Amino acid sequence: MSTDARTPGGGRSGLAARLLLAFTLVMGVAGVTAWLVAGLAGPVLFHRHLVGTGVADPAAVVHAEEAFRSASALSVGLALAVGLAMSLGVAVVLARRVGRSLNAVATAAALLAGGRFDARVPQPRLGAEFDALATSFNAMAGRLAESEQLRRRLLADVAHELRTPVATLGAYLDGLEDGVVDLEPATITVLRDQGARLTRLADDLAAVTRAEAPGVQLARVPTDPNDLVGSAAAAVTDRAAAAGVVVRVDPEAGLPQVLVDPDRLGQVLGNLLDNALRHTPAGGTITLATGRASDGAVRLTVADTGSGIPSEHLPHVFERFYRVDTARSRTDGGSGIGLAIVRALVEAHGGRVTAASDGPGRGARFEIELPPAP
Ligand SMILES: Nc1ncnc2c1ncn2[C@@H]1O[C@H](COP(=O)(O)OP(=O)(O)OP(=O)(O)O)[C@@H](O)[C@H]1O
Ligand SMILES: [Mg+2]
Repeated sequence: MSTDARTPGGGRSGLAARLLLAFTLVMGVAGVTAWLVAGLAGPVLFHRHLVGTGVADPAAVVHAEEAFRSASALSVGLALAVGLAMSLGVAVVLARRVGRSLNAVATAAALLAGGRFDARVPQPRLGAEFDALATSFNAMAGRLAESEQLRRRLLADVAHELRTPVATLGAYLDGLEDGVVDLEPATITVLRDQGARLTRLADDLAAVTRAEAPGVQLARVPTDPNDLVGSAAAAVTDRAAAAGVVVRVDPEAGLPQVLVDPDRLGQVLGNLLDNALRHTPAGGTITLATGRASDGAVRLTVADTGSGIPSEHLPHVFERFYRVDTARSRTDGGSGIGLAIVRALVEAHGGRVTAASDGPGRGARFEIELPPAP
């Protein structure tokens, strides 16, 4: 922390001294002006008025003029003295209050620089500018805290995800070396699966980082929302048929266009459909629908009749690496990144996405709301 930041009222910064100097300068100029007016113009005018009223006695004139000069000197002197005293008081009070606020910001900034991301500045209540400074500072600190937390969690998650395949590969290689495990097709399948899992993790990480990057590149064109769900459904028809799941499209007519990157929206719907297929047993149905939200937004829905999501997990499913059934997803190969990509891409389009489910075994429903094209 620098000395300047620490000593707002004294030392080199000398806010109080500077304010006092400025006030004294103003008072000095005002005093000299008042003195000149009262000392030069005042007596002449007074004399003229006195003569004008017909006072002839020279002794009376001299006496009256003397009284005028004394009164003028007294009032100007007194006004200057009071003004200077007030300046001193105001300078000290202002310097203290402004200094205290700046000091709070400087202290919080120093804490932030030292990695204390919970540092915040209290509202100084010194006018709109200082309040805005405190608000912006706190918002900045909040964002820094958030990204630091994300960074830590991401690293922990990645380490956690890497551990299992790497440990499995290591154990198998040791087994092969020691002759405990034979290099037969089943072993090769395990090794290949673990390798594929690492590759997929790397791809997913790259995809989520790209999707969450601020200012993600979007080639936005006015698009019919029904085209979006139509092509997404077409892309999974074969896989759904193989799994014995019916894919229905339920488009609403007369919807406005949306300004979106069709490839990115295809990726969003593809991820939602992947999940729906993975969690819907044979005989189930996946419905892709379009519609309008009450606030005029265009709504795209992906609903399934599959295993559903327990309500306590719903608020977390969009988090990176979050899986409801960790053990099952591991064998199924999900890394828990699909929905994080969905949310990042939808938000990059100015939209929002929500998950709903009536509970285990009763299906899940994902709704995307996008602003209509202007
Ligand atoms: N339609 C759904 N039905 C039931 N559970 C779902 C559905 N969609 C998502 N989930 C739950 O939410 C979790 C997170 O989904 P997400 O798509 O982010 O990850 P994933 O599918 O496990 O892995 P990835 O998409 O990275 O391959 C899933 O693991 C699953 O538990
Ligand atoms: Mg998924």
